[in-house]
Amino acid sequence: MENMEPLLPNHLTQKEIIMLGAFYTPGRIVKLVISLINKYLEEFKYKNIVVLDSSAGYGVFLREMNNKNVDIRASEYDGRLKPYLSKITNEDNIFLTNSLINVSREKFKIPETSFLIIIGNPPYNDVTSEYKKGAKGSIIADRDLLDRDLGISFLKSYDKLKANVVCVLHPLSFIIKEANFNRLKTFKENYKLIDGIIFPSSMFYYTSRSTPFPVLVALYERVTNGMKYDYIKKFRFKILDMNKEFILESFNTTDGYINKYPPRKKQIKLSDIGLYYHSFRDINSLLRNASFMDKPHYNGIVVTLDNFYKYAYLFAFKALFKPKNKWLYGNLSPLIDIDYLENKKTYFVKYAIKNNKVLRNLKPERLKRIFDYYGIEDIKQIEKDISSIELEIKRHILSLAKI
Ligand SMILES: C[S@@+](CC[C@H](N)C(=O)[O-])C[C@H]1O[C@@H](n2cnc3c(N)ncnc32)[C@H](O)[C@@H]1O
Repeated sequence: MENMEPLLPNHLTQKEIIMLGAFYTPGRIVKLVISLINKYLEEFKYKNIVVLDSSAGYGVFLREMNNKNVDIRASEYDGRLKPYLSKITNEDNIFLTNSLINVSREKFKIPETSFLIIIGNPPYNDVTSEYKKGAKGSIIADRDLLDRDLGISFLKSYDKLKANVVCVLHPLSFIIKEANFNRLKTFKENYKLIDGIIFPSSMFYYTSRSTPFPVLVALYERVTNGMKYDYIKKFRFKILDMNKEFILESFNTTDGYINKYPPRKKQIKLSDIGLYYHSFRDINSLLRNASFMDKPHYNGIVVTLDNFYKYAYLFAFKALFKPKNKWLYGNLSPLIDIDYLENKKTYFVKYAIKNNKVLRNLKPERLKRIFDYYGIEDIKQIEKDISSIELEIKRHILSLAKI
């Protein structure tokens, strides 16, 4: 059995891997999912239960159900995987189909009265970002399941199937970012997160992204009053191989304090000091994107004399935030201790001017305005102070990573 699981989806081309979101799951994570659903199997004494994986791939999850004597269903878009699935269950239980179309229990021959458990590693990808690069097609799904991310469509499909329990992997960002959480629509209204274990995306055998991001092994139960975002903010996520918890509300971030978007229609578009900062969604994109720019840019936030220190802070954060488990923080907005920054504005201003090329090449009269505003004498003073400042803010920024 073991050698049935190839390390890489080697029947696919690079383009197909992106299109199908085909990142295959390591055995350890599969076992974790199975251990989470075991209690339901036992509770129902293995009777009247159907276990479905609607993005079955090689069937690594369902294979674990083989010796458990439960009814299984495998659905998979990629017909080339049929030989693998046939080794796990008989033809009647295999559906080579788009699992997001005409979604109903009837489609997968699941009785309305069965206790339905959905497991698996559904594909996810933001069609808007990858699509631009031309590798990915748009999502074909029932109207009520449509979303720009395939993974969110899959979660909504579980609600449409009225699954009693859902235990799948999905990016942590689906639920910890409020805008994404709201896109879950009826899924969040009908399901409650019961258990959640975070692991890094780098654990997948094949990932094209260089920056690892947090993935969640999520166990949901169907309930009458669902979850509010506040429930997620307080949720105590476990972290694989670490004896620590990830609690969203325990982090202080720049949200509501530092603007991260380019100006909207009626907002000021030109900076009084000719400076702009590349927009960002979260720590991962802050670290990846450009920083200060000296010309207006469609992705440029307007930096002004009075908010310059905040962007100087982001620049320092970008350069110095290198904690041990950086991947864990990737989906959060930059971390901050606002009191510290308000008290040490000049530290960050000096650090940024010393280390950023765009700032160093600023017209002398503009630099002078910044110096005057922040009470800095001249560049020589910065040179003199910089080594002790650098040490202190480095220590401070690292101290924000509490896990
Ligand atoms: C992330 S892989 C996971 C496969 C398997 N569960 C595993 O971990 O080894 C996602 C799988 O979903 C399949 N898939 C993608 N879109 C699908 C769709 N709309 N309907 C059914 N299967 C789909 C892909 O072909 C791929 O095999």
